Amino acid sequence: MAKTKSSFFCQSCGYQSVKWLGKCPSCDTWNSFIEEITVKETKNNSGSTSLGKARKPLLINEITVENEQRFSTNDAELDRILGGGIVPGSLVLFGGEPGIGKSTLMLQVALQAKGIKILYVSGEESEQQIRMRAERVGIQNDTCFILAETNTQNIFKQIEQNEPNLVIIDSIQTLHSAFIESSPGSVSQVRECAAELMRFAKESGTPVFIIGHITKDGSLAGPKVLEHMVDTVLQFEGDRNYVYRLLRTTKNRFGSTNELGIYEMRGTGLRAVSNPSEILITHRDEPTSGVAIAASMEGLRPMLIEIQSLVSSAAYGTPQRASTGFDLRRLNMLLAVLEKRCGFRLGVKDVFLNIAGGIKVEDPGIDLAVVCAVLSSNEDLCIPQDTCFAAEVGLTGEIRPVNRIEQRIAEAEKLGFKRMFISSYNSKGVDLNKFKIKLISVSKMEEVFTHLFG
Ligand code: TYD
Ligand code: MG
Repeated sequence: MAKTKSSFFCQSCGYQSVKWLGKCPSCDTWNSFIEEITVKETKNNSGSTSLGKARKPLLINEITVENEQRFSTNDAELDRILGGGIVPGSLVLFGGEPGIGKSTLMLQVALQAKGIKILYVSGEESEQQIRMRAERVGIQNDTCFILAETNTQNIFKQIEQNEPNLVIIDSIQTLHSAFIESSPGSVSQVRECAAELMRFAKESGTPVFIIGHITKDGSLAGPKVLEHMVDTVLQFEGDRNYVYRLLRTTKNRFGSTNELGIYEMRGTGLRAVSNPSEILITHRDEPTSGVAIAASMEGLRPMLIEIQSLVSSAAYGTPQRASTGFDLRRLNMLLAVLEKRCGFRLGVKDVFLNIAGGIKVEDPGIDLAVVCAVLSSNEDLCIPQDTCFAAEVGLTGEIRPVNRIEQRIAEAEKLGFKRMFISSYNSKGVDLNKFKIKLISVSKMEEVFTHLFG
C-alpha cells in the first residue's frame, strides 16, 4: 500500500508548509495555500523516468566535452540567444503570457530544424489544430512528430519508442504525473513533471524545451519553482496589440543573459527582425516636438529607439505621470532632476512617456533622450531628425557615460544620423575621430539645451 502524504503549497511561489497558512511567509501573498496530496509510492515507482542507472563520480579532467556539439535551430535569433545553438541535454524553460506566440515560435523551431527528429508534445491543442497552425506558418518538415498527450508516463513511453533528438513540451501546466495526486498546473505537479523531464534530458542527452505560462505580474505561474531547475530561461514578451515580440534570456548556463531577439508576428507566423533600428523609428516628413531618438544597447546589440513624450498642463490637482516601456520611477527621478537642477517647472504638468513599438527598455543609456523628449514637448520645440542621444543622467544633472559607446555611434552612423550627443567622459580613452557623425560631448544638462534649442 502506498502511503498518502499531503502538504500545503503556496500557489504563487511554491513555499511548502505542513499546515495551512493564511499568509505565505516567503512571498507575503494571502490565501495562496492549497493542500496537495503527494503520494510517495513504493519502490518500483521511485525513479520515474526509469531510464536511470546509478552514476559514478568522474574526475573533472577525464570528462570529455568533444561530443557536446551544439546544434542549430535554423533560427539565427534563437541560436544567438541560446548562446550559439541548442546544447545537448539542456532543459530550456520558455515563458510568456498566454497568446503572445509561444506555441507558434516553438512549432516553427520544430518545423525549421531539418534532419533531426523532433517530438512536439501538446497538452493544449489537438493534432489537427497543430497541423492547421503548421499550414499557416507554411514550413514543410518530414521529421516532426506531434503528440497530443498530458500524462508524463505515456510521453516517456513514446519518447523511448521514437527516440527524438529534441522534445518540445507545450505546456508544463497541462502535464500531469501519475505519482502525484494533485491537479495539473498545481505547484507539486509542475515541479514533479519538470523533475521527470530534467532527469530524462540529463540521462539521455536529449534537449527539452518546456513552455510555461506567465501571469500578468510577470512571474511564471506556479513554476517559479522551475527557474532554478532548468538550464536556460527564455522569456517571450511584448504587447499583444503590437506586432513586435521580444525574446530575452533571464538565465543561461551556456551563454550570456544579455542577448535580445526581436520577432514580428505576421499572419504567417513569427519572423525574426534582423534590423530592429530601422523599424522602431518612424520616418516623418517633418520633425515633431516631443520625439527624441536614443542609441540604446539591448544586450550586445545596438538599437536605435524612438522616445515620445507629451507634457501638458495638469487638468486636475495632482499631475499624472504615465510611462509605457520605461520604468516610471526612473522617469519621476529624471523629472525631479529637471525641476531641481535645471529649473523647469514640471511639477504642475502631466507627463506621458512612450517607447515606440511597444518594447520595454531598461538601458539607462536612454536617459538623455527621455529628458530631451520631455523638454522638447514642454517647450514645443522640435529636435532635429538627424540627432540622437546616448548618455545617462545622474541625480546632480550631470551627463554620465554609457557602455559600448563605439557600437552605439557606429549604429547611429549606419542609419544616417548626423549628430549625436554623448557624455564628455565617454570621449576619453576611445578613438572617436574615426566616425564621420558629428559627436557633441556634453557634461551638463544646460549644455544640451544650448546646443539643441539655442
Ligand atoms: P500562440 O502561439 O497560440 O500563443 P501562446 O502559445 O503563447 O498562447 O499565438 C497566439 C496568437 O498569435 C494568436 O492571437 C494569433 C496570433 N498568430 C498570428 O498572428 N499569426 C500566425 O501565423 C499565428 C500562427 C498566430
Ligand atoms: Mg500555446
